Amino acid sequence: MHADVSVVILAAGLGTRMKSSLAKVLHRAGGAPLIEHVVRAARAVAPPERIVVVTGHQADQVEAAVRHHGVRFQLQEEQKGTGHALAVCRAQPGLGSGLLLVLYGDCPLLQPSTLDRLIETHRASGAAATVLTARLPDPAGYGRILRDAEGRVASIVEQKDATPEQRAVDEINSGIYCFDAAALWPRLDRLRPSPVTGELYLTDVIALLRQDGLFTAPSLIGDPVEVLGINTRAELAEADRILRARKARALMLDGVTIEKPETVSIDLDVEIGRDAVIGPFAQLLGATRIAPGARIGACSILVNAVLEEGAEVLPFCHIEDSRLAPGARVGPYARLRMRSTVAAGAHVGNFVEMKNSTLGEGAKAMHLAYLGDSTIGPRANIGAGTITCNYDGFRKHPTTIGAGAFIGSNSTLVAPVVIGDGSFVAAASIVTKDVPPDALAIGRAHQVNREGWASARREQEKAKG
Ligand code: UD1
Ligand code: MG
Repeated sequence: MHADVSVVILAAGLGTRMKSSLAKVLHRAGGAPLIEHVVRAARAVAPPERIVVVTGHQADQVEAAVRHHGVRFQLQEEQKGTGHALAVCRAQPGLGSGLLLVLYGDCPLLQPSTLDRLIETHRASGAAATVLTARLPDPAGYGRILRDAEGRVASIVEQKDATPEQRAVDEINSGIYCFDAAALWPRLDRLRPSPVTGELYLTDVIALLRQDGLFTAPSLIGDPVEVLGINTRAELAEADRILRARKARALMLDGVTIEKPETVSIDLDVEIGRDAVIGPFAQLLGATRIAPGARIGACSILVNAVLEEGAEVLPFCHIEDSRLAPGARVGPYARLRMRSTVAAGAHVGNFVEMKNSTLGEGAKAMHLAYLGDSTIGPRANIGAGTITCNYDGFRKHPTTIGAGAFIGSNSTLVAPVVIGDGSFVAAASIVTKDVPPDALAIGRAHQVNREGWASARREQEKAKG
């Protein structure tokens, strides 16, 4: 953290090359909007009240996405280029002196350590501006760095404005700069529109500083991946892949086993404890928290799920906003949603859906059931094919199943209904009335056996010819 550093993040553009109606910085990679990643990097080097995000397209949504950081916002009503985007921040308090870092909101892979190094390089050289640069095998699309004989940055030329010789330069402008604020602001007034695009380029400020005899330095980054600017969906997918690889690696170094880590998708803020095991193709999303020793089977998708110690999700489950207590086991092929809870030692098997329901300690629902708006007591057994009819076409109703109750297969429990502790429901019953504790409920037609009926029928058919 540097007390004298301010940061401006440019995030007003629509991002034409994304071919989207959503503002570019709101597109997601690694489980968060692009702008979130950039604000996090900024927060590692400057206090939030010294960070300004320039908004324009879908300003309200961009603000909503990062307001929780306590950063400030500056509206750029018309997007007239990166130079203009910075110029409109002039009136923001506190940006007039000290160091000013400028970041672009479409650069989500940037690491805080790189910003620290940029600031250090800048201070050590005494330059008026330091530009973070990278050498790329394919520099197409980026601004090119033109160095002078001493190896300083003479100017930056945009791809669209560059000559063929300039396009052959492989050192690019990352769009990340450290400016001496006092030297920067007066020069921004002198930017002139590009004859090619009509935009005011922030990059042109480098040549203006040089004209005035000031010194502008490059800072060449070791790992060019960090400065990947997202302009297309293909680059978005690449950034997503890199962010997820980083996350998986960090978790593995913290003691989590991840099988085939290149196939899993784990969002930025997911927490996973030691000795947890994550199967191939698992997706752990949102605010999911996995306790030590829990296991997630292949291809399961967890969204805002909580797994406590030793809980297990078998392959191909979908679990959203739900919780598994210690030793609970779910799946394969189960779906849990809307605040469902599986208590300690309880088991949910294949093709069971739970919605806003609780399965008590040691209870079991092993096959083909729908449990909606239900509270199921400890040690209850829910037979295959049990359905809680929680919806009457107008509103939802609760089902309560007592401790140790046994619900026979293919039962239909019409809510609201209470099944008492320790009671039995005969298989295939339709239960529309409460069942007292310790009772047997049979709600189905009586079976009739007609002896000899089948052969008599066959004879009858034969006689017809
Ligand atoms: C820019 C740089 C280029 C660099 C590249 C790195 C300029 C002129 N060019 O090009 O040298 O190699 O980034 O990724 O700066 N924005 C605004 N207001 C505007 C215009 C843009 O806030 O009026 C924001 C965008 O939302 C975006 C960022 O500035 O987050 C960069 O704009 P973009 O159009 O992506 O610039 P590039 O063409 O990538
Ligand atoms: Mg860009």
